[in-house]
Amino acid sequence: MKAVRIHQHGGVEQLCFEESTDPELKSPDDVIIKLKAAALNRVDILIRRGVKGAEVALPHILGVDGAGTVAAIGSAVKNVKPGDAVCLYPASGCGQCEFCNSDREFMCAHLRLLGERENGTYAEFVRVPARNTFLIPAGLSFEEAAAFPLVFLTAWRMLVTNAEIKPGESLLILGIGGGVASAAMLIAKFFGARIIVTSSSAEKLMTAKHLGAEHAINCRDGDFSKVVRNLTGKRGVDVVVDCVGGESWVKSLAALAKGGRLVTCGATAGTTPQTDLRRIFWNDLHVFGSTLGSRREFHQVLNFFTVSGAKPVLDQIYSLDAASKAHRRLEEARQFGKIILRIDA
Ligand SMILES: NC(=O)c1ccc[n+]([C@@H]2O[C@H](COP(=O)([O-])OP(=O)(O)OC[C@H]3O[C@@H](n4cnc5c(N)ncnc54)[C@H](OP(=O)(O)O)[C@@H]3O)[C@@H](O)[C@H]2O)c1
Ligand SMILES: [Zn+2]
Repeated sequence: MKAVRIHQHGGVEQLCFEESTDPELKSPDDVIIKLKAAALNRVDILIRRGVKGAEVALPHILGVDGAGTVAAIGSAVKNVKPGDAVCLYPASGCGQCEFCNSDREFMCAHLRLLGERENGTYAEFVRVPARNTFLIPAGLSFEEAAAFPLVFLTAWRMLVTNAEIKPGESLLILGIGGGVASAAMLIAKFFGARIIVTSSSAEKLMTAKHLGAEHAINCRDGDFSKVVRNLTGKRGVDVVVDCVGGESWVKSLAALAKGGRLVTCGATAGTTPQTDLRRIFWNDLHVFGSTLGSRREFHQVLNFFTVSGAKPVLDQIYSLDAASKAHRRLEEARQFGKIILRIDA
């Protein structure tokens, strides 16, 4: 099959579109998916560059997210059949630890993420456990079905499970061009929240307003927390979604109302911000860390698409052999929403 592999870590030039061995069924519970689309995630860049804690066996096929049709099934598979159009839950645990036994497999110390410890979706075919395959919600294309799993699952757990967003609450989302941020906006809109966004791009702020943001702040124009306080009559917002980190972190805390909740799943701009802890305890703030989500939450995301009719925000679509161009666009943060690789066999 054709696939995009890395043979060594480094820049976008390390992405090689080339011939690779077809995956085979390894267990009776496996399925082989003929992929129609894959989506890029920031973690793909980290794996390509090589990061501690996410070591991969080289050569390696990147890609956490994908959608396609079932090409072959193991003898024990009951939930899907050849030809079904499916999207993929991207993670598998050891199946034995306290987390795997309580629908929190994503916290398993031996977690295997697609495209990280397993060969991923930048390919014509991929092998996954059958229980990680789900029928694509009606109305979503293969590209849209590849776009949503990682970012919507993550954003859903952040907002719905952890922050418990309520109708009418005010919400600040940082870096709205991002995959998680744009997913969070669509989920928050569905829950009836009032949305303020930040971005480094005036064009992205315009797009966010078209998609339902009430206020849009250019974070290049100064301290966004002051603007948020002005917009909310000095009160601050109920919830902040911050997966930017770095210097934004302190401003995110400053943008919260008393008793407010901050949810984070990432730190694109830096992992070690300085925080005055008094701001957290004096103001009774709640900080939630969040990573991925459970199969139950994945089901909730599927239902969300069915009930709301929402569609993930797609940025640009590239062919599989143009993966390096697609990576460059993501690396330069030029995207709004999800960058897609279309896979034509
Ligand atoms: N823990 C988990 O389970 C999990 C899951 C998914 C993602 N994440 C993490 O969450 C973060 C966001 O992921 P994503 O997929 O949404 O990323 P993404 O699509 O690459 O978006 C990142 C956005 O952050 C903003 N940004 C601010 N400072 C930046 C900087 N220095 N460099 C690049 N972008 C910057 C930009 O927004 P504007 O262009 O609007 O300014 C950019 O579009 C990443 O760190 C990722 O690793 C974690
Ligand atoms: Zn486990």
